Amino acid sequence: MSLSSQHNRGSGPLPELHVAMVGHAFMGRAHGNAYRQANHFFDLPFQIVPAVVVGRDQERAAAAASRLGFQRATTDLGAVLADPRIDLVDVATPNDSHYAIATAALRHKKHVLCEKPLAMTLAEAKAMAALAQKQRVRVGVWHNYRRAPATKLAAAMIARGDLGVIRQVRAVYLQDWLVDASLPASWRTSRKTCGSGAHGDLNAHLIDLTRALTGLEFESVCGVQQTFTKARPTADGKGTAKVDVDDAFCFLAKFRGGAIGTFEATRMAPGRKNHNCVEIAGSLGSLRWNLERMNELEVFRYDEPRDGQGFRSVMCMDSVHPYAANWWPDGHIVGYEHTFVHHLVDFVQALHSGAPFAPDFRDGVAVQAVLDAALQSCRKGGWVKVAK
Ligand SMILES: NC(=O)c1ccc[n+]([C@@H]2O[C@H](COP(=O)([O-])OP(=O)(O)OC[C@H]3O[C@@H](n4cnc5c(N)ncnc54)[C@H](O)[C@@H]3O)[C@@H](O)[C@H]2O)c1
Repeated sequence: MSLSSQHNRGSGPLPELHVAMVGHAFMGRAHGNAYRQANHFFDLPFQIVPAVVVGRDQERAAAAASRLGFQRATTDLGAVLADPRIDLVDVATPNDSHYAIATAALRHKKHVLCEKPLAMTLAEAKAMAALAQKQRVRVGVWHNYRRAPATKLAAAMIARGDLGVIRQVRAVYLQDWLVDASLPASWRTSRKTCGSGAHGDLNAHLIDLTRALTGLEFESVCGVQQTFTKARPTADGKGTAKVDVDDAFCFLAKFRGGAIGTFEATRMAPGRKNHNCVEIAGSLGSLRWNLERMNELEVFRYDEPRDGQGFRSVMCMDSVHPYAANWWPDGHIVGYEHTFVHHLVDFVQALHSGAPFAPDFRDGVAVQAVLDAALQSCRKGGWVKVAK
């Protein structure tokens, strides 16, 4: 481990964990906030130091570094990776750059936290996971929705058998920001830069969340996709750019062991802003979580008195719930940004203790295998086995 100063906990300052963050827009802000918040609210084995923002334009990177509380900014990723003071590299850039940045960081034996989807293809994802293992560093994928108090509780309930045998998963991730056909093209609407559209963006989260909540592994999938708006104005307004990724992508899934599932991701669902909702049905009951009401978990169980049965809503911000006691008194809710803080906190603790951290790059590979199989199914038609 290349951590900058090694002091014993309790007998002096904490050892520092120096972070280099590549990319500084939407996810840069979410991650940057986490680096600042984590030590304030959680008792961590390291002092996290937001050291450097890496961008493509010095002025914009410097402005972001100052706004997000990083010490400095640069456009020279090579120099950052060669700097022995940097412990952790955060990849918060568009999908087509994850592989190059993450593997360069791994070759320099940096720990890596990478945004999702891990890679553009299954082959890339596998190579990243293999390199991480070879270099003996710690890695994670920012599937932050695993770490809402309510989703963490849902996973614990399912693991202890509250729902019995899991039979069905109903997962939708619905947004509407592409309904407007005049919205300009971006890296998110070009296959070259993002690989796929709503599928890699939103289904990736649903796939990871399903694996995290249920422990189920995907066996085969059957997909259908559609691009409703085939071209968009370019960002400079001077022309049009072809849209060659899906606006909406649905797939059916069979899981190993006999469970089945339906998955739907779209950026064309009028009125749905960030409706990330998973319902799990088991032999003894069901549960449902929706990001837009992220502190609540809806639970139905047959072992409650029949005349009072029904879905009830558990407010997951009591001190007994995951992460809740680190924030505010009971019922004082948390939001979207806290899921990133929790992700970071768990990663940093695992880094110190040596305990496993999930999702790591092997989990990223598992997600990528499902994404790729569903894309293949759309091309060929019919069911496609998910690579193991
Ligand atoms: N975990 C989540 O909930 C979540 C949410 C949104 C996006 N994402 C993922 O995060 C990643 C970034 O998405 P975003 O919404 O922040 O995108 P964005 O367009 O808002 O920001 C991308 C940033 O990367 C920079 N950048 C682009 N190419 C670069 C390169 N080659 N080298 C260095 N910097 C580069 C841009 O200048 C910008 O700062 C994507 O992989 C996306 O799928 C995850």
